[in-house]
Amino acid sequence: MSVFDGLSSIYDLGMLPLEWLLFRRLRQQVFPLLRGDVLEIGVGTGINLPLYRPEVRVTGSDASREMLTWAARRPQSHSHNGTALAQSDVQRLPFPDGSFDVVAASFVFCSVTDPAQGLAEARRVLRPEGKLVLLEHTRGNNGLGAWLTDTLHPAWKAWSKECHLNRETAQTVAQVGFEVRRVERHAMGIVRVIEATVQDKVSR
Ligand SMILES: C[S@@+](CC[C@H](N)C(=O)[O-])C[C@H]1O[C@@H](n2cnc3c(N)ncnc32)[C@H](O)[C@@H]1O
Repeated sequence: MSVFDGLSSIYDLGMLPLEWLLFRRLRQQVFPLLRGDVLEIGVGTGINLPLYRPEVRVTGSDASREMLTWAARRPQSHSHNGTALAQSDVQRLPFPDGSFDVVAASFVFCSVTDPAQGLAEARRVLRPEGKLVLLEHTRGNNGLGAWLTDTLHPAWKAWSKECHLNRETAQTVAQVGFEVRRVERHAMGIVRVIEATVQDKVSR
């Protein structure tokens, strides 16, 4: 059982301060731009679902059945063309190679046990011209940001059980064979938008 199963009923409320401070603005910048067949990993309570354009075909996947239950209740999630929700672990995605134009996620790879394995799976299910789009919290990128995330990480991990405060997610994206196209840094680099492509997939 995932720790998120137990948190699902209070998750949105608990996240409200961060949503007001920064996350909501970044979600509004990222998700309305996505096109085609989109797999959203770790879709959680479905907070991004209302932000997709109606013509986008969204598959929302998450390891937590309870988080998905909340996602299914979002009225907006049904207005999309072919929105589907599936319980699955990103480290073993139940989709054939090359199924999606975009794999997207927000604040997920901080909690995946083996992020490299999850990102390799994301790459596998993307089409050769596909795109990875992540909104993630990561290790800070300047002295203070890095110090803060490194210092707070042990206590945060002990309390949260699954969430890592100081992961270098953009580096892991590159390590599994993506080409990192853009990294946008916010809040001392602790929050980042990461865009990457798989354009070299066919030549590997
Ligand atoms: C911090 S929440 C973020 C939820 C949502 N994306 C958002 O932005 O509010 C992390 C989500 O990732 C999911 N998750 C964690 N590890 C996962 C894994 N290995 N495979 C699939 N989903 C996972 C959790 O169940 C949870 O719903």
